[in-house]
Amino acid sequence: MYICICNAVTDTDIQTAIDNGACSMNDLSKQLKVGTCCGRCKDCAKKMLNQSNPLQIQTLTIPSLAPEIAFA
Ligand code: FES
Repeated sequence: MYICICNAVTDTDIQTAIDNGACSMNDLSKQLKVGTCCGRCKDCAKKMLNQSNPLQIQTLTIPSLAPEIAFA
């Protein structure tokens, strides 16, 4: 299915780019020209990016260097 009519880019083209490391609209625009003409395809392309690269939140635990203080 065509996602970007202006540049003849299909969902398969976008998915392949994502699978090969594209992780932003900027990446897709550079690689496939997605969204570089009328821009009507941007929402759909962004949706594909978000589905393939869900925001991953990592937590980092840093041990405290402060001495433990006990209150009586
Ligand atoms: S449909 Fe993609 S730039 Fe027009």
